[in-house]
Amino acid sequence: MLAGKHILLIIGGGIAAYKSLELIRRLQDQGARVTPVLTKSGAEFVTPLSVSALAGTPVHQELFDLTAEAEMGHIQLSRSADLLVVAPATADLMAKMAQGHANDLASTLLLATDTPVLLAPAMNVRMWEHPATRRNLEILKGDGVSLVGPNEGSMACGEFGLGRMAEPEEILTAIAAKLSDGPLTGKRILVTSGPTHEPIDPVRYIANRSSGAQGAAVARALRDLGAEVVFITGPAAVRPPEGVQVVPVESAREMAAAVQAALPADAGVFAAAVADWRVASASDRKLKKSKDGLPVLEFAENPDILKTVSQMSEGRPGLVVGFAAETNDVVENATAKRKRKGCDWIVANDVSPATGIMGGSENAVILISDGGAEEWPRMAKDEVARKLAERIAAALAG
Ligand code: CTP
Repeated sequence: MLAGKHILLIIGGGIAAYKSLELIRRLQDQGARVTPVLTKSGAEFVTPLSVSALAGTPVHQELFDLTAEAEMGHIQLSRSADLLVVAPATADLMAKMAQGHANDLASTLLLATDTPVLLAPAMNVRMWEHPATRRNLEILKGDGVSLVGPNEGSMACGEFGLGRMAEPEEILTAIAAKLSDGPLTGKRILVTSGPTHEPIDPVRYIANRSSGAQGAAVARALRDLGAEVVFITGPAAVRPPEGVQVVPVESAREMAAAVQAALPADAGVFAAAVADWRVASASDRKLKKSKDGLPVLEFAENPDILKTVSQMSEGRPGLVVGFAAETNDVVENATAKRKRKGCDWIVANDVSPATGIMGGSENAVILISDGGAEEWPRMAKDEVARKLAERIAAALAG
């Protein structure tokens, strides 16, 4: 899958550096050539010897290494690869990149390169959530840097949360996606997926039965055609695909904000089952049983994400695709919905319980566009996703 590709792998300082050894091996299994660079702090976690032995080539460590300068300057080193991968990407390395520092070999390579860069961040959850890291991340995204992970989980420091480096398998998939030369290469596409949870109080919420399977399949199919996918997902039952940028959210309002933050994009696919209403005054304390009677929930309308994006006067993605879950008069309702929301296409499906579509593995959809309604035969959700991704690729190419 990666035969003949050349990866410059920068190993930063973090406990996750040990996973980079596995990554080198997996990259080589796929036919890639790896040139390793170890930062000073990276060398505190893995030894130069194990890195170079696995890579089968000397590891680069010093900026002012005269032999290396004679053989290959750092400028050339930074540009000879097809992709620069930083794993683990520490908070410090990300800050240096965002600010354009070049005070060691890794930061100099990252500044001198014109090759795409993929970061696999790894840090303590507080460091990941710190406003400084958030700012740096925004700058890096704006600079076109891609990310894989971090994941949520328990950390070496004993805390739990976002900050664990993505697994070698996930990094590998992200690398393959970056290097893919499919028809969507260079296109940025955002996908919403899953249900939303609308809080009633800190322990209760209103949700819906969406599993997130169709949205995840669409994101995977777009990734496989080479797109850079931002996957904004509510609390879904299925795992998000690997090799896409995952933005987890809970409520419709969080999803709306995440979508705005992820723009601009070449296309948007809105597969999420967004709750139309939220509880107007969600309590910040658990509601208790009371002798005064049952609680009365008042509702407020949630933002319509698809409609907002479809009707943006500036920065609207070139192609906006919505989904319509209907239980009757599918074509009529979905055609009216397309018009009402202002999106380009609607993927309509019949979610009446008898169809077994909601929460199931198959889907039968009707694609509604300017050209009318096109009925697709019932097929696996993965198949629907592949067909839709191909259509999107054709539309963006045209
Ligand atoms: N959608 C959205 N934001 C909302 C509600 C829906 O982005 N607040 C998007 C969904 O992701 C989907 C499309 O709008 O792509 C249609 O969702 P659906 O629930 O079928 O339509 P509604 O607008 O909720 O209309 P209704 O419930 O009246 O059928």
